[in-house]
Amino acid sequence: MNETALKSFLEETFAWLHSHPELSYEEYETTAKLKDLFSKELICLLDLPLATGAVAEIGSKDGPMVALRADIDALPIEEETCLPYASKFKGKMHACGHDFHTSAVLGAALLLKERESTLPGRVRIIFQPAEEAPGGARKILETGVLENVQTIFGLHISPFLPVGSLGLSPGPVMAAVDSFIIRFQGKGCHAAHPDRGVDVISLIAHFISAVQTIVSRNTNPFAANLLSITRVTAGNTWNVLPETAELEGTARSLTPEDRQLIKERLYALAQGEASAFGAEVSIDWHQGPPPTTNDASWTDFARETARKQGFDLQEAPKSLSGEDFAYYQEKLPGVFASIGTGLSAPNHSSKFIADPAALLPAAKYLTALAEGALRRLTKHDWTRTASGQRILRMPTTQRNLQST
Ligand code: NI
Repeated sequence: MNETALKSFLEETFAWLHSHPELSYEEYETTAKLKDLFSKELICLLDLPLATGAVAEIGSKDGPMVALRADIDALPIEEETCLPYASKFKGKMHACGHDFHTSAVLGAALLLKERESTLPGRVRIIFQPAEEAPGGARKILETGVLENVQTIFGLHISPFLPVGSLGLSPGPVMAAVDSFIIRFQGKGCHAAHPDRGVDVISLIAHFISAVQTIVSRNTNPFAANLLSITRVTAGNTWNVLPETAELEGTARSLTPEDRQLIKERLYALAQGEASAFGAEVSIDWHQGPPPTTNDASWTDFARETARKQGFDLQEAPKSLSGEDFAYYQEKLPGVFASIGTGLSAPNHSSKFIADPAALLPAAKYLTALAEGALRRLTKHDWTRTASGQRILRMPTTQRNLQST
């Protein structure tokens, strides 16, 4: 396929995906479309127990293995863009650019397929369901397809970067995202006789102020951390002090240490305030993805690859939003980049637009990453363990030791 044909193919596929948004775990039409395209291109699909999402493989059986990952789900948002290919499904929209990620990775798959016979290893192409809901990345990890994969690459659209630019930084680029629900149990009473009850309204007023000291007083001021109470529910009328109060919120951080510290301080303050007021407290803590943390050595490689592809390299726009790509990076070194898709309303907005002009460069960048990574891995030292097993010695960290 020549470049003009590939460009039109990517734009058509992107327009189709954009007009057919499906929510997390409901990506049936999207999955069918991807599988259909793969079978037309004779790309090998792995037989996996996935209801939605798919994994394909390109390359020869020997040598190292790397992965490219796209997420495929959309959001429950009513689109307000006036695009000719706007959502056909009421109340659903590709407002986070996952249609762009899917098209770009698909383009890379086609380009890699064309040079399959020359690849010094294998590339696993991952179309992950449910990035916007919990568990999508884990569905893929549970299939075991990443067991012998040595590095993984992904990207995310950025409405803050122009087309032709790429944000890439080593270390943490997105946050660990946890959430919590806290219930205080007091003693309801007549509003005229607060002495006969335990007032949870006064309690939560203290508590909400106190939790703001966790980030400002307990964590290093040079680190990025966040704790927000986002919902407060208590009482239902003017002359009764309620029995209970419920709070919901989110905690975000860029390191495991700060993540743990914030959780511990939140529990301590909740228990301390409850006991000071004579109330009881219970906390439900929901642990979300860890920080998205780019491997330093593979980030250098990805930056060099992007530079050769003509991208204007920028620092990754840091964000305390989360990304379940982080679950892959817990298992193997990986790099997550922000690709400029033109200035637009922010993602997760009903007016968000990704410029399709960024598709072909994105596909070519991903292709160069996968192919370059295989060559880089092929050049690395091989060594043997005491039992005679062949082991690849990787350049950066001990966790990169992979058997083949
Ligand atoms: Ni997203």
